Amino acid sequence: MSKRYLAFICQACGAAHGRWQGRCEACGEWNTLAEEGREPSRLAGARRAQGRMFALEPLTGSSRDAPRLGSGIGELDRVTGGGFVPGSVLLLGGDPGIGKSTLLIQAAAAFARRGGSAVYISGEEAVAQVRLRAERLGLQEAPVKLAAETSVDDILATLSHGAAPRLVVIDSIQTMWTSAVEAAPGTVTQVRGAAQALIRFAKKSGATIVLVGHVTKDGQIAGPRVVEHMVDAVLSFEGEGSHQFRILRAAKNRFGPTDEIGVFEMTGAGLREVANPSALFLCERDLGTPGTAVFAGMEGTRPLLVDIQALVAPTAFGTPRRAVVGWDPSRLSMVLAVLEAHCALRLSGYDVYLNVAGGLRINEPAADLAAAAALVSSLARAPLPADAVYFGEVSLSGAVRPVAQAAARLKEAAKLGFARAVVPEAVRGELPSSGLRVAQVGNLGDLVAEIVADGRRAAA
Ligand code: TYD
Ligand code: MG
Repeated sequence: MSKRYLAFICQACGAAHGRWQGRCEACGEWNTLAEEGREPSRLAGARRAQGRMFALEPLTGSSRDAPRLGSGIGELDRVTGGGFVPGSVLLLGGDPGIGKSTLLIQAAAAFARRGGSAVYISGEEAVAQVRLRAERLGLQEAPVKLAAETSVDDILATLSHGAAPRLVVIDSIQTMWTSAVEAAPGTVTQVRGAAQALIRFAKKSGATIVLVGHVTKDGQIAGPRVVEHMVDAVLSFEGEGSHQFRILRAAKNRFGPTDEIGVFEMTGAGLREVANPSALFLCERDLGTPGTAVFAGMEGTRPLLVDIQALVAPTAFGTPRRAVVGWDPSRLSMVLAVLEAHCALRLSGYDVYLNVAGGLRINEPAADLAAAAALVSSLARAPLPADAVYFGEVSLSGAVRPVAQAAARLKEAAKLGFARAVVPEAVRGELPSSGLRVAQVGNLGDLVAEIVADGRRAAA
């Protein structure tokens, strides 16, 4: 007699519960439990007690670097660590409409044009719609094979027939379902089951599979965080709605770095690679206004100059507002606290807004000095020199601490026509002869005094 095994699965984290309850004990989310059939594979696994012996290997031994297949899109290869690894599975997340489908049809077309066999399977759009988009992108000649399918069983039966393709795009994993799992499409169990089947196929056939994953409103790949653990790489495609820039990042990568970013621009003819992002992020700069500072940052191995904008204005409320876009709010609080405690600035009566231009998100502590300079410049109404870049980490004592890769930052600034750099006193290693006039500051107080004096001179 076959018995239906039911469980209550949290749609946020995938934890299984024996009975319904209002709150998931595993992740603490409310009202996320849904009744689903359990995967039969799990139940079968539980019954099998006898295992098979296998040989253990030493840690030392010969192994080769994972071979790579270039996608034909340089910025994508930079993020994956040099191209697709055969047999690997990537998950690409991003907000609706950000350009995931566009990026992947362009990648599939570029891959196919270089002679690789590529299959694009859409569970969301009809073949005609995908064709229409490819036509708009000028890709209709590329030998990509298309299908509009949602059954993983049918997809794998088709792909297993004959030689396996080298690249398979599944758009999106949330639309896929497999009959091996007794649950409605879109549920965590179903998504996990479908992902498992696809991953097994990738490992067996050596095809690279790219799964598109939807993102919930708080920026997580919707439904199964478990899928993130199953795949080899998790990429996210980000951008601000009002900007054309799109940034591809790796949140996890078993075969490469996670700090590289790929920069694209969404145009009428699809995504264009941006080889020199600094020029792009600086192009809308307001010169000569107080409250902006250029930060010489690093994203992975690539230097990136960005404009940091601050507005410090007297508050109309009892509690002043602090708002920040593109930077860590707790680092802003820290820089403000240091400015109050060590630089004799009274900011408690002011609203503070900080914005990283271009929709970029900065994670580096090296941005502290540029953020502080922008804040003080706004407060003192003293524009910073337009030809200067800033970098350095601010410690709680008010000291400006050295950061890594000073040489690369200075070189990029010189390349983009900047003439001055404000940097920490003890820059690690020797300062390269970049042609910039370098001002070293050991203490945030010194920089603040200088900017405030500039402001007084300008007002006088
Ligand atoms: P899409 O790739 O469908 O996004 P996703 O798959 O992440 O949901 O991109 C849709 C958006 O991109 C849509 O708002 C229109 C815009 N777009 C362009 O601006 N230019 C183009 O050439 C294409 C194909 C799309
Ligand atoms: Mg899409």
